[in-house]
Amino acid sequence: MFEIPIRMERVLHRLKELAHCSAGKRGVTRLSFTSEFRQAGLLVRRWMKETGMVVRVDALGNIIGHYPHHRRGGPAFLIGSHLDSVMEGGAFDGTLGVVAALEVVQALFESGFQTALPLEVVVFCDEEGARFHTTLLGSRAMAGTLLGEDLNARDARGITLAEALREFGLDPLAFRSAKRDPEQIAGYMELHIEQGPILENEHLPCGVVSGIAGAVRGRFQVEGLAGHAGTVPMDARRDALVGAAEIILAVEEAARKSPSTVATVGNLQVFPGSSNVIPGRVEGTLDVRSLDDEERRRVFRQICQRAEGIAENGSLSFCCEVVLDTPAVQCSPRLMAAAAEAITRHGYPPLFIPSGAGHDALAMADLTEVGMIFVRCRGGVSHHPEEYVEPEDIEIGVSVFLEAVLRAMDSHPKAGSTGQTEEAEVP
Ligand code: HGY
Ligand code: MN
Ligand code: MN
Repeated sequence: MFEIPIRMERVLHRLKELAHCSAGKRGVTRLSFTSEFRQAGLLVRRWMKETGMVVRVDALGNIIGHYPHHRRGGPAFLIGSHLDSVMEGGAFDGTLGVVAALEVVQALFESGFQTALPLEVVVFCDEEGARFHTTLLGSRAMAGTLLGEDLNARDARGITLAEALREFGLDPLAFRSAKRDPEQIAGYMELHIEQGPILENEHLPCGVVSGIAGAVRGRFQVEGLAGHAGTVPMDARRDALVGAAEIILAVEEAARKSPSTVATVGNLQVFPGSSNVIPGRVEGTLDVRSLDDEERRRVFRQICQRAEGIAENGSLSFCCEVVLDTPAVQCSPRLMAAAAEAITRHGYPPLFIPSGAGHDALAMADLTEVGMIFVRCRGGVSHHPEEYVEPEDIEIGVSVFLEAVLRAMDSHPKAGSTGQTEEAEVP
């Protein structure tokens, strides 16, 4: 069952092709609904068609390929990842999972393999949230948890998500149609780089994800009083950036004091932004994560309270809007077992690793069982142009992923016994 050959030269070629779909010079920048994102989507759809899949794009721009060669109908097993990147990110975050899912289906197709259940590749449109600062847009739409107000999120140029969808040729008002029926889904599994050092420290090429940290993402504002940089005495200033600087140090201190929590201010904008004007307003993002939801929310509250105190002392004002609060997710024991068996059969101990990074599986857990397999990445570096995975680890990762996906389908209660291939109705 498991000697289905994958073609590494095709995998590496596709990773390279997708890496070229990028804006800017350093690393990969492929924000959702941009021209480079469109270019990558066209490649993915072409490759899906080469693998005998029936391809469609849903209302949020998620690309869905349906593999029709299975032993009988039933709920579809979903595999995939995200096609968007962060600013100046790497060539493997999300992309490896997309290419791996395509390779699994193409290897099955070329071997004439009939899967126990319908298999679908889902390529999500906006996992990172790098453009609109709201994350998991595509997977939340598929899970039915995307809200109408999410369409009002704006990018740095003030373009809303709704406008970006329209410009991309999609109808934002139809976003609810992207929701899938949980009865029609048999699970979701994703291959992803670890984005951390554990596999490298343990000298293992891949591991089983046990759970995914929850995250609360906020957008804060510090308001002071703009003024002339040359004439306002230091003790008369209400400098919003000085206040924001103290708040950022308070974020760092609060997270360092909580062993299970990490917190980041990833984006800061200073207004009006002239070198000879005292900053009157600062806008920033706050990202707090932990596998312990209670602790994460406690640290977030503590940070906001500290920030309010700092603002008060500096005659400033502080407010923070929660953009998204995504609870931590435990992976499905059934899908973890499928991954662990596949890793074991490849000759490695199945190491179970929690994910500090967020993934589409966080959102898909509202729809179905989720499982993930991590692949070692050099130095654990990610969200950086130096992100890198050795080809040998890619080969092991894709081969383990293929076997885990087959095991996951075979172990599903609705998996059919061998019989005639039924051309399944395409959703
Ligand atoms: O932010 C994350 O953890 C993920 O890379 N989107
Ligand atoms: Mn990712
Ligand atoms: Mn990422």
